[in-house]
Amino acid sequence: MRKKIIAGNWKMNETPSEALKLVETLKPLVNNPDVDVVYCVPAIDIVPVVNAVKGTNVHVGAENLYFEDKGAYTGEISADMLLDAGVEYVIMGHSERRGYFHETDEDINRKLLKALEKGLKPIVCCGESLEQREEGITEDWIRMQIKIAFKGVTAEQAKGVVIAYEPIWAIGTGKTATSEQAEEVCKAIRETIGEIYDEATAAAIRIQYGGSMNAGNCKELLAMPDIDGGLIGGASLKPDFGTIVNYNK
Ligand code: 13P
Repeated sequence: MRKKIIAGNWKMNETPSEALKLVETLKPLVNNPDVDVVYCVPAIDIVPVVNAVKGTNVHVGAENLYFEDKGAYTGEISADMLLDAGVEYVIMGHSERRGYFHETDEDINRKLLKALEKGLKPIVCCGESLEQREEGITEDWIRMQIKIAFKGVTAEQAKGVVIAYEPIWAIGTGKTATSEQAEEVCKAIRETIGEIYDEATAAAIRIQYGGSMNAGNCKELLAMPDIDGGLIGGASLKPDFGTIVNYNK
């Protein structure tokens, strides 16, 4: 049985002092031993949030990393820096980073290899645009994103990776994919992992859905057989996040 993983992606929200308030607000709401709970926070919030969640069930993630070890890369953050600050998880390949910051599938592959080499737990995002969905190329597109991202990753490493399926048209739009649409693609992602590796790896890897997941629709989405969690934007900044974490209660 795969343990569900509910992760908040705070994006560029919450100053360090606001972050501490949010952690306090959510503290009594996010207790569920059946679920891995992760807050992926802006870089400047990492140290205060790591301290604030000490002794709780909450794990801390970053929203990005750079694939070089160290050096003259102004503005970037290395895997060692994240680890030293107490980070466990790291998002890579979010559509906002692909779109606004021109990240390529090859960059995401290098980030994934670096995170795994260093022992960070990667959350690898993929997803299609509305145009691609309307053209009927969703699954081909996502298979390609996954195949490039996982180049050089071993089966043992792949088992510990989390994949987040986030249709771009559902992010921040209030337009959630139906649970059938989300399941269809998450199933195709699992099949792709099975093709690249083997059945055991496909059965072990966790796949999240992300895109306007909220307190109202989480139950139905998380009941689907290939959806092992959620990557939550807007609703992760509110007490609703607690409802999502406790979707099975
Ligand atoms: P929303 O939940 O705000 O749609 O964002 C989803 C997302 O992009 C999480 O990474």
